[in-house]
Amino acid sequence: MRIGILGTGVMAAALAEAWTRRGHRVLVGGRSQDKARAIAERLGEAVEAAVPVRVARESDAVVVAVAWEGVDQALALAGADQGSLAGKTVIDCTNAVDYTSGLLKPSTGSAAQRIAERAVGSHVVKALHLYAGTSWLAPAPPGRPERTVAMCGDDETALGVAAGLVRDLGGTPAVTGGLEHARQLEGVAGFVMRLVATGHNPVTAVPAVPAVDRTRD
Ligand SMILES: NC(=O)c1ccc[n+]([C@@H]2O[C@H](COP(=O)([O-])OP(=O)(O)OC[C@H]3O[C@@H](n4cnc5c(N)ncnc54)[C@H](OP(=O)(O)O)[C@@H]3O)[C@@H](O)[C@H]2O)c1
Repeated sequence: MRIGILGTGVMAAALAEAWTRRGHRVLVGGRSQDKARAIAERLGEAVEAAVPVRVARESDAVVVAVAWEGVDQALALAGADQGSLAGKTVIDCTNAVDYTSGLLKPSTGSAAQRIAERAVGSHVVKALHLYAGTSWLAPAPPGRPERTVAMCGDDETALGVAAGLVRDLGGTPAVTGGLEHARQLEGVAGFVMRLVATGHNPVTAVPAVPAVDRTRD
């Protein structure tokens, strides 16, 4: 698959590296073409630097991996308001969270819904915002055989595409519902940050409830 990544920071570089290890091709671009070129040069011929509008138009699925403050600009540069992402799976991994308070920056709705509004005709999936990007460059730590990637979205095909890409990273996709669940998933990031800030391990902060085997229904 040809994966587009809007953004040229730590997350963009880590996802590009992880997916190319699994045989995907990546187009990466952002407001700085120098940064996009640096990622492509470091990762080799499976990664190409491109202007954002090309990233959007020529990719099968596109990840938005920019700071929340940069989302509007990144989508504008990609031509999202002109339909460049129409019909495509768009994975939103952004954290619109105040890192000090852990509170969500949008007062209502979610970053993912905002992206869906701006990227006309796209199929947005909220995913991959909780694990560090670089964590996908190594196997799961001992004792944690599964890394569950909670995701939500309204389009079944897009959820399937995102789930496949999560599996390629080594994660286990878990669909929690439609895009109206995005604010809930986005709030988890702030919850995790607050636990870490107060000296607790987030893994121990949720009850160990056995999963129900739905395949028996
Ligand atoms: N790093 C992780 O492990 C991780 C994990 C999960 C989710 N995320 C999320 O992924 C997103 C990117 O994180 P990151 O760690 O890659 O951050 P980063 O290294 O700081 O990179 C931020 C990216 O956003 C762009 N950006 C920032 N402000 C912008 C603006 N006003 N207009 C346009 N573009 C702007 C930057 O462009 P310039 O370089 O040109 O400034 C850069 O491409 C964030 O929403 C973050 O919460 C990150």
